[in-house]
Amino acid sequence: MNLTIIGSGYVGLVTGACLADIGNDVFCLDVDQKKIDVLNSGGMPIHEPGLREVIARNLAAGRLKFSTDVRAAVAHGDVQFIAVGTPPDEDGSADLQYVLAAARNIGRYMTGFKVIVDKSTVPVGTALRVRETVAAELAARGIEPMFSVVSNPEFLKEGAAVEDFTRPDRIVLGCDDDVPGEKARELMRRLYAPFNRNHERTLWMDVRSAEFTKYAANAMLATRISFMNELANFADRIGADIEAVRRGIGSDPRIGYHFLYAGCGYGGSCFPKDVEALIRTAAENAQELKILKAVSAVNDAQKKVLAHKIVERLGEDLSDRTFAVWGLAFKPNTDDMREAPSRTLIAALLARGARVVAYDPVAIRDAKRAIDQDLEDQPEWLERLSFANEQMEAVRHADALVILTEWKAFKSPDFDSLKKALKAPLIFDGRNLYEPETMREIGVEYHAIGRGGVFAGAFAVNGALAAR
Ligand code: UDX
Repeated sequence: MNLTIIGSGYVGLVTGACLADIGNDVFCLDVDQKKIDVLNSGGMPIHEPGLREVIARNLAAGRLKFSTDVRAAVAHGDVQFIAVGTPPDEDGSADLQYVLAAARNIGRYMTGFKVIVDKSTVPVGTALRVRETVAAELAARGIEPMFSVVSNPEFLKEGAAVEDFTRPDRIVLGCDDDVPGEKARELMRRLYAPFNRNHERTLWMDVRSAEFTKYAANAMLATRISFMNELANFADRIGADIEAVRRGIGSDPRIGYHFLYAGCGYGGSCFPKDVEALIRTAAENAQELKILKAVSAVNDAQKKVLAHKIVERLGEDLSDRTFAVWGLAFKPNTDDMREAPSRTLIAALLARGARVVAYDPVAIRDAKRAIDQDLEDQPEWLERLSFANEQMEAVRHADALVILTEWKAFKSPDFDSLKKALKAPLIFDGRNLYEPETMREIGVEYHAIGRGGVFAGAFAVNGALAAR
């Protein structure tokens, strides 16, 4: 099938590459000529495991093309995927200007029947706006409408996106019931047939429900995380261990083990933005989503929890302190710095006069860019921030190690070397990578999330009781 993917960002690239890999002829469009040049020369604008290989073999096979030529892109695909960004507006709602610009271009250049697929995460009702936009362009050209708009949200996790695309839990497809909708449904059925061979994964529904499903999924997952983070803070107060509690509740199949990890707050391109956008859409429809407002507020506070723990332990004035930070990306296996908790924590440390030496296996370039932007009004803070090329180098002569992303390489470091490198054996862990008891045995003062709080290193419950 001839496919066009409008937008060669994270979602567009994974979608285009994986659909080419099953034999489709895919045209990826982007407005950014530099990005297109990088892709055509075999380079990668993002870090995503496995994606480079899929792109390379499909470029070589001639099934994948990258270009900035809008007219050619629209002419190419029977199916036009819109996979452009929907960044948050000032008020938190999704900014649809890129989606609607893509729709205008399709309407401006299309000739035969097209299926237009909303792949970007867009508020309920966007498919209708896309339809109106395309129809208006066609009307201006005096052409009868001959297209259908389908909602096909993605459920890709960064760091595992190729795997998620190739072996999806579900494929959500929202189609209209009219004649063009039926035609679109048939094309989409054919397109996704290879993913449904052993087991039917497609969930067919109306367009609005499909649009809403994406937000509902992310809102539910974000809710689980904020719920656990709030309980973790409480566990710290009462001297309970959130990890034991997690296992205790996760074993109930109605709850399950996934997405119950307390930490330093969720980040990334989806959860924060989608929760806010859903709250906004609800408000526009005269409904207050009280739970989601709390989810968002708890997350904002959670990103500051480690800074509070550090201040509690070392005092407000950190001007003679140096902190090693391990992990900058919002999660492992990506260089994505969007809404990463590291940005909040590093700013909080620098604001109190500390020096920070940061390390991440892949995100340093993006981290520099993001933090420079965050702190452009505080150039003197930035002078106290540096980056190490290697994880042990970051720790040398630091007063404490702060862990913010659970990269594999951080999971079992050589603690002897770590203790020698640090001025004192002090770790603040936003990802609960180590066992408090093991840390106590090897003589590391260990502060994690919900693992006994200030009592870490002693028996949590006894500590809590003693403190009362
Ligand atoms: C998410 C959704 O999982 C995906 O389905 C959707 O398409 C896009 O948004 P992603 O943003 O890649 O994917 O990251 P995810 O792995 O879901 O993690 C999001 C954030 O939650 C990360 O900051 C992560 O550290 C945090 N998290 C996740 C927790 O704090 N605890 C958990 O138990 C799980």
